[in-house]
Amino acid sequence: MIQTDYLVIGSGIAGLTYALRVANHNKNCSVTVVTKAEKGESNTKYAQGGIATVHDLDIDSFEQHIQDTLVAGDGLCNEAVVRMVVEEGPARLQELIDWGVNFDENHIGDFDLGKEGGHSQNRILHHKDITGYEIERALLIMIGKAENITVLEEHYAIDFITEHHLESRKTVRDTAITCFGAYVLDKNQNEVKTIVSKITLIASGGSGQAYTTTTNPSIATGDGIGMAYRAKAEIEDVEFIQFHPTALYQLPQESPAFLISEAVRGFGAKLRTAKGEFFMRKYDDRGELASRDIVARAIDTELKASGDNYVFLDCTHLDYKEFKKHFPNILNKCASLGIDVRKKWIPVVTAAHYICGGVKVDMDGKTSIKNLYACGECTSTGLHGANRLASNSLLEALVYSQRSFVSSVKELDALSFNTDVPEWDTTNTSQNKENILITHGRSSVQKIMSDYVGIVRSNRRLKSAEKRLSFIYEETEELYKESIISVELCELRNLITTAYLICEFSMKRKENKGGFFNKDFV
Ligand code: FAD
Ligand code: SIN
Repeated sequence: MIQTDYLVIGSGIAGLTYALRVANHNKNCSVTVVTKAEKGESNTKYAQGGIATVHDLDIDSFEQHIQDTLVAGDGLCNEAVVRMVVEEGPARLQELIDWGVNFDENHIGDFDLGKEGGHSQNRILHHKDITGYEIERALLIMIGKAENITVLEEHYAIDFITEHHLESRKTVRDTAITCFGAYVLDKNQNEVKTIVSKITLIASGGSGQAYTTTTNPSIATGDGIGMAYRAKAEIEDVEFIQFHPTALYQLPQESPAFLISEAVRGFGAKLRTAKGEFFMRKYDDRGELASRDIVARAIDTELKASGDNYVFLDCTHLDYKEFKKHFPNILNKCASLGIDVRKKWIPVVTAAHYICGGVKVDMDGKTSIKNLYACGECTSTGLHGANRLASNSLLEALVYSQRSFVSSVKELDALSFNTDVPEWDTTNTSQNKENILITHGRSSVQKIMSDYVGIVRSNRRLKSAEKRLSFIYEETEELYKESIISVELCELRNLITTAYLICEFSMKRKENKGGFFNKDFV
């Protein structure tokens, strides 16, 4: 059993910045970060476009960023949250810079501000087209210097420990639920550790792996949503899955799908059909820079009509020297596939990219479970409404890690470790010899979600998806009860839970908003 003041699950931008804040605030406290793969692996690492913040008040304003966010969210954002995030953005960005993150500058030494869909101004700070990689690099150096932070790589959080796990649970059944830490599988030792904490923060990121084609790496399996749902935390808005319009189309398909940043369209690239027709103006006056939900749906409509597998992104007219400076990573990737962007159009498809909802938190990052905070992509804060504005995700994680920090440090002194927490129970389990059920289960979930719960949904498809998922759920739960725990099995459970919740919330939503589109409501 390990005792730690703060347990942080996840080492993306949300988890790392929270860990740094609490550790720096009180050098005597202990902070443990568990992360299921190598410590840099995260959605954060793959972020390209950058971070949206109001930087230059001569050309931009908080009000404009707020309005852009509200418009993209299609009437479902919490306006107080939007204001708070946008207005606190510049201070949080400055901290990131102080921690060593480098952002590109222009020829006069000011920040080079990019533009993306739905933004009325250039306001995206970036590091070439590898902003997330640069953020992880700098934050991990800072984490390495903090003596009171322990990072446990290859450690997979299975479940939160709550009253449900205690011997005395019958007597506390009706009281509010409390988080006492988490059961964590040490992947190398193959043993489950019991980590007891005073405060737990879940920062486990996204769930793009619920779909076949996704920009999210293999770690994005909705673990935070699955764990929180099992612990009976409130979940909301998960029907709003954001599909990125322009992932690189390749055969054989690569997972994750390589992203062609929206910043490339901000730089002037145009979408074309296979016949060479420009089509975006048919769908929105903002053309290629309409918000992501609109561009993704337009591409989906064009592909359904033409029967093609992809559309094209045309960069041939752009200033090559500047393109190379801004997008070296994209350029290299295209070149490796024989695509010279000066001469050839890039084949692109839509891909599951971001989940706008998740574990419900208040403006201090508190979930509905006591002593459990949540931050980053696994949460629903109210910022994104029905569709996230591009590059608002990294910003949200920064603002909420600060707010969670301020709130949780005030609570720490009054808390103590729960010493009644039992060790992980392995009774009646044995080595699973049917791994095919797990691999097949994962690919089945992805296929069901891609075919039935994608950009365009219908009542019949949703019902069918739910039925099919229920079957896989029953089968997997049976396997779970009798098997020695494995990461693959746990991930499958969480993917099924997340997929099921996306279906259930989709069936409850009765009008089309933002990224949610049911053809029966047209
Ligand atoms: P992540 O960065 O995903 O970190 C989650 C961490 O939790 C990982 O370390 C993971 O290993 C760990 N973890 C998960 N489950 C468990 C478990 N059970 N046990 C232990 N550890 C666990 N947003 C922007 O604002 N701007 C952009 O330019 C941008 N570009 C993007 C490009 C791509 C290709 C992708 C995929 C996303 C992009 N996004 C962008 C979205 C943004 O990157 C993410 O929403 C954000 O980084 C999420 O940060 P996070 O800390 O919440 O989660
Ligand atoms: C991109 O660079 O296109 C991704 C930006 C985002 O997801 O916010």
